Amino acid sequence: MDENFELEKITQGRVRTGVKGLDELIEGGFPRGSNIVVTGVAGTGKSIFGMGFIAEGCRNNEKCLYITVEQSPDEIVEQAMQFNWDFNQWESEGKLKIVALDYRRLSEMETYNELTRLIEENHYDRLVIDSITSIVNSPIPPYSIADGADRGLHLPALAEMNRANVMTLFELTKKHGVTTVSISQKVEGKPGDTLDNISEFIGDGLILLEFDEIGSSLERTIRVKKLRKTKIDGISHPFDFTNEGIFIKQKDV
Ligand SMILES: Nc1ncnc2c1ncn2[C@@H]1O[C@H](COP(=O)(O)OP(=O)(O)O)[C@@H](O)[C@H]1O
Ligand SMILES: [Mg+2]
Repeated sequence: MDENFELEKITQGRVRTGVKGLDELIEGGFPRGSNIVVTGVAGTGKSIFGMGFIAEGCRNNEKCLYITVEQSPDEIVEQAMQFNWDFNQWESEGKLKIVALDYRRLSEMETYNELTRLIEENHYDRLVIDSITSIVNSPIPPYSIADGADRGLHLPALAEMNRANVMTLFELTKKHGVTTVSISQKVEGKPGDTLDNISEFIGDGLILLEFDEIGSSLERTIRVKKLRKTKIDGISHPFDFTNEGIFIKQKDV
C-alpha cells in the first residue's frame, strides 16, 4: 500500500503541533477542533509554543489567528522572527491575523463581539490565545475606575464576567472546529496547574512546560498531562529551543 496514504490515514483528524518530536508522542497531533491548554511559569516557552503552532499552520496554508494580551503584535512578530517564522509575510498573504486585546477594554462586550465576528467570518483552522490568564485576571486600570468605565464592578465580579466571556468564546471555536492553543499562566508555589482556575475546565488537553536548574544549566521539559482521544505517556520530555523552535530531545538509545 502507498506509504503516504497510510501516513495520511494515521494523521487524519489530527493537527500537527509545530513542536518537533511531539506529534509522534500523541498519535500524530492534536485532535482537530480541540482546545489545548499550555501552562507553565513565566519564561518556560508558552508563547514560543503558540507561535510554533501558528507557524506550522501558515506553512500548510491554513488560516490562523493569534490573540495577544501580554505583548504587542510587533513584539510577537519580532519574537517569531527569531525562529525565521515570518509572521509579517504570512499576514500579508492572508494566512495570519494578529489581534492585540487592549487590557483596558477586556470587560467590554464589544471586545468579544469583535472576536466573535472574526471567528464566524473567517473559518480559522488555528487559534492561539496568549493568554487566558491575562484576560481573566486583568487588573482594572485606575482611569476606568475614575471615569466609571468599570461600571462599579469589583475585581472578582470583573473576573467572573471575563471568565464567562472566555467560555463563550470557546463554545464558538468548538462550534467552528478551530483547533485552539490556550496559554495559561502558572505561578511558582501556588497549587494547581493554572492561575486562572478556568483553563483546567476548558481544555481537551493540558501541556505543562517546566524548567529545572541542573547545576549551572537549565533543563527545559514538556509534558502532556491530558489529551482526550489520545494515548499519552505522561512523561516529562527534555527539549531545546533550536532555530526551528521547540525540539524534543531524542532519548539516547
Ligand atoms: N533561541 C533560544 N535559545 C534559548 N532560549 C531561548 C531561545 N528563545 C527563547 N528562549 C527562552 O525562552 C524564554 C521565553 O519564552 P516565552 O515563550 O516567551 O515564555 P513564556 O511565554 O512561557 O513566558 C526566554 O526567557 C528565553 O530564556
Ligand atoms: Mg508568554
